[in-house]
Amino acid sequence: MEKVFALPNGEDLVASVLGPGEGRGTTAVQHDIYSFLTRPFDPWMVPTEGGFLAEFLAGTHDPSLADTMLVGRIDGTVVGTAWHGTDGDLPEMGGYGFVFTEPEQRGKGIAQRLTELSIQGFWTVGGQVSYLGTVNPVAQHIYEKHGYRHYNGLTYRALRPGTDADDFDEQFFGRAGDGAIRDIRLGDIGAYTGLVMLLAPVEWIVRDYTEAMFYAPPKVQASGCLRPFFNSMTRHATSAANAWKVLVNDNGRLVASANLWAPTHAPVSANATMEFQAAPAYVDRAGAVIEAALEHAAANDVRAVRAFGVAEERLAALREAGFVAEVVQPGALDLGDQRVDVTVMRRDLG
Ligand SMILES: CC(C)(COP(=O)(O)OP(=O)(O)OC[C@H]1O[C@@H](n2cnc3c(N)ncnc32)[C@H](O)[C@@H]1OP(=O)(O)O)[C@@H](O)C(=O)NCCC(=O)NCCS
Repeated sequence: MEKVFALPNGEDLVASVLGPGEGRGTTAVQHDIYSFLTRPFDPWMVPTEGGFLAEFLAGTHDPSLADTMLVGRIDGTVVGTAWHGTDGDLPEMGGYGFVFTEPEQRGKGIAQRLTELSIQGFWTVGGQVSYLGTVNPVAQHIYEKHGYRHYNGLTYRALRPGTDADDFDEQFFGRAGDGAIRDIRLGDIGAYTGLVMLLAPVEWIVRDYTEAMFYAPPKVQASGCLRPFFNSMTRHATSAANAWKVLVNDNGRLVASANLWAPTHAPVSANATMEFQAAPAYVDRAGAVIEAALEHAAANDVRAVRAFGVAEERLAALREAGFVAEVVQPGALDLGDQRVDVTVMRRDLG
């Protein structure tokens, strides 16, 4: 779809909305957008994001992802971009990113037009919640104008108009059966982000040690948004030992996750670090999803798995999954007003 906006300064912005599979390839058109966004001589995104962007533009990614690329042009030249990704089968949860306007073209309303197209398109396909991360006050202003509200740390989320924000998490991630375990897939980008960002279980503190995601408000909150997904997905895709299993409930919602990261260098490759999350209604099922990830890892020569915890509630979930305390790191986590001990839990695989 193409839409022309008359900008306040009199110029025409031609916005292309490329739905899943549309306008993808490896021609000069996609190279142009890739260079525009990654700024090879002035990079602003982490390499893993650039790698995924290349796949999204080429259309070579795992087909579970339904992504929309928005490209704004003035007089045929790319001046702004944005991207939104969700699950193709159940487009309820999404992630928004790759929002960039050419520095000389800023302040003309370009990002606002693209953001409006993105979020309206998501509501049209049945979207319930969209996440993004930013610390840029200009971007925050734009996103707030289009329904995004501060959520956790640098994360903002937009809820489908008419949704009650106060009990959204409790309702959305509520119990609906015991859930089924499957492998992660790219279409889970919004769903996994929602799970990592969840404010509850509030006692857990550690959400993803490898990605430095902790929650101990007000001083310590989420330090990333889509980044943990992109980084963990890259590790998962590059080594068979890096298992990633998720629990999906009867409503098709991702409610628990366990992923492993083992170094590829032979002397240490049998030692993995595990990250796991569970919605409050599914803490009792965390063990099952952890077990599935460990089974996969064991079959790929992982022999010892370590996981980090601070609060008793999270350590208890690890103990139930067969982990034992290996060592306590005194005061290893700085929560701003206090330093707390981190317990390294370990489970040996047969
Ligand atoms: C953020 C960014 C995408 C904005 O693009 P843009 O096309 O210039 O944005 P727009 O012209 O549509 O809107 C700018 C808005 O910010 C407002 N604004 C400008 N300076 C501001 C400030 N310091 N604080 C808050 N709002 C500000 C403008 O007044 C305007 O809002 P208004 O129309 O309500 O008056 C662009 O600055 C950029 O590419 N930054 C670098 C990449 C980035 O940070 N991306 C977002 C993170 S994911």
